[in-house]
Amino acid sequence: MNTDKLRREYQSHGELTEDSVPNNPFEQFEKWFNEAIKAEIDLPDAMTLATATPDGIPSARMVVLRGFDVNGFCFYTDYDSPKGKELAKNPHAVLVFYWRELDRQVRCNGTVVEMDPAESDAYFASRPIDSKLAVWSERQSIVISGREHLEANFEKAKLTYSDIDIPRPPHWGGYRLIPNLFEFWQGCPSRLHDRIRYTLKGNDDWEISRLSP
Ligand SMILES: Cc1cc2nc3c(=O)[nH]c(=O)nc-3n(C[C@H](O)[C@H](O)[C@H](O)COP(=O)(O)O)c2cc1C
Repeated sequence: MNTDKLRREYQSHGELTEDSVPNNPFEQFEKWFNEAIKAEIDLPDAMTLATATPDGIPSARMVVLRGFDVNGFCFYTDYDSPKGKELAKNPHAVLVFYWRELDRQVRCNGTVVEMDPAESDAYFASRPIDSKLAVWSERQSIVISGREHLEANFEKAKLTYSDIDIPRPPHWGGYRLIPNLFEFWQGCPSRLHDRIRYTLKGNDDWEISRLSP
């Protein structure tokens, strides 16, 4: 299939220059994230998470951003999933956001640490009941016999936890990606896109560079 016809021109969505961005990339991320929410972008919190085995075989999938601050970007998953096993052996990972309606991409490289169990407990407790039960229904990414298996386990979990608080399973919890590099990409007309990279040089000391599109 030839996909040439899908080619489109990028619009102008505001300035992104070395001089206009804040010194701190978290501030720039927060600004763009708020603009993505304001623009009513569907799933502005959906991000691609790329991980790799220690010998460099990559894998990537979408996860949901469950909060960020200067300490990093949080997401939740099964610690025994393929991504969890990769992160246990190789903590280097990358997050990518794409906000199509604003022609924006953010890449964020860093190292991933497991979240404090108390933080994971608090987040798990805030989830809707069905989401809690789903986590108890089966381990993520294992091969299963069919949908009935999941549905039966879900019903079993419902009975088990019908009159007690649903605890967080020990194999499920949060991670925090602690960034050492950000790249903000703003699509521009004529393919003269703006790209601003922040590289961590020391404690809170970020070097800002402009990259060629
Ligand atoms: C929009 C979107 C959001 C997702 N969010 C999460 C998430 O927050 N946590 C998660 O474990 N899986 C999430 N998934 C499912 C993952 O993409 C993936 O299928 C799952 O985590 C298993 O990945 P793994 O086998 O590479 O470990 C999401 C999928 C989509 C499409």
